[in-house]
Amino acid sequence: MGRGSGFGKVILFNEHFVVHGIPGIVSAMDSAADAKVKKLDKGGIIVRDERKRAKGYAEKKKIQQKESINRMLQVMEIDPKQISLDIWLGGNLPGFSGIGASAASSVAIARAMAEEFGMNLSDERINEIAYEAEKAYAGTPSGIDNTAATFGGLIWFKKNLEGGPNTIERLSIDKPVEIILANTGVVADTKQMVLGVAERKKKYPEKYNPFFKQAEELVFEARKVLEDFDLKKVGELMNESHSLLQGIEVSCKELDYLVKLARDQGAFGAKMTGGGGGGCIVALTPGKELQETVASTIEKEGFKVLRTKVGIKKS
Ligand code: MEV
Repeated sequence: MGRGSGFGKVILFNEHFVVHGIPGIVSAMDSAADAKVKKLDKGGIIVRDERKRAKGYAEKKKIQQKESINRMLQVMEIDPKQISLDIWLGGNLPGFSGIGASAASSVAIARAMAEEFGMNLSDERINEIAYEAEKAYAGTPSGIDNTAATFGGLIWFKKNLEGGPNTIERLSIDKPVEIILANTGVVADTKQMVLGVAERKKKYPEKYNPFFKQAEELVFEARKVLEDFDLKKVGELMNESHSLLQGIEVSCKELDYLVKLARDQGAFGAKMTGGGGGGCIVALTPGKELQETVASTIEKEGFKVLRTKVGIKKS
């Protein structure tokens, strides 16, 4: 049996913009998806997805999950018609929209599959395979999610729009910082969200291009204040980033509600994270006490919350 894992992620700056070649900042989380893959004599490809997840997540992602596995098998030169496999998915990363659950599961499956088939693959190759899988979930992904899921840590990412290697730089901060992720409970389709931005950008360039310009300026400033460990400023820029994401119409009323709730409780900053249209927010809540205050208030309103940290060194 082959085994593998992939980290969950939280995008701190520039989801969506990153698809169009603007840099983004992402942090892996200390939660991961785990996979086990076993060859079978017959029965086709069976997926046993035992991850904790939001209601409706598995049903909504089922077709995309199947396509993603087929895509991975193809790039690994394994003919899906000639093979039977038992694929098990678990781990402590819940199946929520926005936290890289699909990319984490693809990395986990690619690693487990490589082990089961006796392939000795580098992290770079695993990342390429998971990127192929991401196309099933995101249409034209930037590659930021699978990169964080593969390599872990805090990363500056820029997609190479010419098809060459993407820029992947490791960032380091003084120490890990507490954040919370709160889930709206709305399962979103990243593919539709990504497509929607591309269409609107093309249709309304005079409205959309200024948001892209601001996002580019913002992310360079964000990198600087993160590396300076100026957390108040990081929080302010996260708030600005949320406004830009509202501008390109990928937030929704549930996300805006949670963002406001987190800010009202003293979070240094809060924004939607990931594809939007539902899914999760991230709030910067340095220190255990603030993290608990924000988390418990949101939980009291009936939303699921994850307490974690950004800037954890890859283990
Ligand atoms: C999804 O987690 C992030 C998006 O920017 C898509 C991508 O970069 O592939 C919305």
